[in-house]
Amino acid sequence: MKTLVMIFAITLITAASATAQYDEKHRPQIHFSPPAMWMNDPNGMVYHNGEYHLFYQYYPKDTVWGPMHWGHAISRDLVRWQNMPIAIEPDKLGYIFSGSAVADKNNSAGFKNSSNTPLVAMFTYHDPDGEKAGRSDFQYQGIAFSNDSGRTWTKFDKNPVISNAEKVRDFRDPKVIWHEPTKRWIVSLAVGNHIRFYESPDMKNWTLTGRFGGKGVGAQTGVWECPDLFPLKIEGTNETKWVLLVSINPGGPNGGSATQYFVGSFDGKAFRSDAPPERINWLDHGRDNYAGVTWDNIPNGRRIFLGWMSNWDYAQKVPTAPWRSSMTLPRDLALRKTSKGISVVQKFSLETAALQGAEFFKLKNKTADGKLLLGNAGQPMAEITIEIDLAKSSSSEFGIEAANSKGEKMIVGFDAAAKRFFTDRTNSGDSSFSKDFIKGRHYSPRLNVSSTVKLHLIFDTASVELIADDGTVAMTDTFFPSETLNDFSFFANGGNARLVSARGWKLRSIWR
Ligand code: FRU
Repeated sequence: MKTLVMIFAITLITAASATAQYDEKHRPQIHFSPPAMWMNDPNGMVYHNGEYHLFYQYYPKDTVWGPMHWGHAISRDLVRWQNMPIAIEPDKLGYIFSGSAVADKNNSAGFKNSSNTPLVAMFTYHDPDGEKAGRSDFQYQGIAFSNDSGRTWTKFDKNPVISNAEKVRDFRDPKVIWHEPTKRWIVSLAVGNHIRFYESPDMKNWTLTGRFGGKGVGAQTGVWECPDLFPLKIEGTNETKWVLLVSINPGGPNGGSATQYFVGSFDGKAFRSDAPPERINWLDHGRDNYAGVTWDNIPNGRRIFLGWMSNWDYAQKVPTAPWRSSMTLPRDLALRKTSKGISVVQKFSLETAALQGAEFFKLKNKTADGKLLLGNAGQPMAEITIEIDLAKSSSSEFGIEAANSKGEKMIVGFDAAAKRFFTDRTNSGDSSFSKDFIKGRHYSPRLNVSSTVKLHLIFDTASVELIADDGTVAMTDTFFPSETLNDFSFFANGGNARLVSARGWKLRSIWR
């Protein structure tokens, strides 16, 4: 009888998650979130046969972190997601931590058993028993393969493929790429305070070829995690540089988890940064964009990034149920020559334009003094673009405010004196769940802004993403209002601001 009740309960839970309504309080409407339970990093992002695969760190039994599985979702358009069954489960070698996936077109690993190209995933095994026993070699790398376009996975029977002979505690998050010039697979691995590079002809046998990082290189106040190494063109040139993304926790510019990047060269063995070692570049200056990496195998040289829209400072406490966490929107990355050297710039991937619904405000050449109501969208999901003429503006700060009738608001603005963007969620709603959630304003670095300041904002029920100054600045922040923030205003404090243009569109939910 007990077993019957159990089976019935499990069936109910599975059915409930498969048919999640996505209408709960704070439920993101235009961002991916799991139907139920805990999610962290995006994993195994690979494009194959017209499908974008998103795997993710998943604990199916609770809304806090636990024994890690790879959850799975598929999109054909990069905005709407279909939830799939769990892809990879823990086994006697350990939990399945973060990693990546590639399409093995030449069947170099020998896993192919049909006309379909095999997908190969590489992940970190985390052995909880080894950790509990006080050992330091409890993380090592394994692989798995799929011959049915990611639907089912088989683990390689000779795992691990990279063991932890040196016994380093933090030894994880393999990101595999194919390196055409050397005809080798390359994996970047986060090892404590640096990244290691290994090469392989078949993803089974790996040779260490180089290291990057260590004391004095980039931000070093936390553990290095989730690397990603890829080539990228400098806009408007034929020159290609290599970019290395490295997430770090803690030590972000505004507290907790954040992602830094390096630009340089890669010869198939080791990465060299162009900038002096002490230089730190942040990919995002908000507090909710972590562990992000890019999709493999995207055609036409595009580099599409997705991050986990949370922060280890409070991720396990945010007031959402029956799930926790969501991902950022997909963003296309590019390189640009700036006065500070070569920078990564980003924009919302063009596919997100498919979310646009009715325009709910449109202004041109208007001078604002104080507060200017732009419009009530009747819903929180909105896309806003504004352009301000600095030469015709006297205000010390201006920006956009999303508010509700309870007086709660999320503010995104530009500090004209300090020439930096900021976000302010101090009065955006519930923050009682963690003393680490509110830490004053979040700031971008000082910028060499030209005469016009441009902001591109995308609001969802519980987040805002700012891409400003033509992609040189990104800020991503979550919030938890008691009622949705539907009222959008422009504000100019301490003077006026000349709006060259301001436009707002409602965005359609991806779940309906
Ligand atoms: C980053 C991270 C990874 C690890 C995973 C475990 O958020 O700590 O380094 O593989 O989460 O869930």
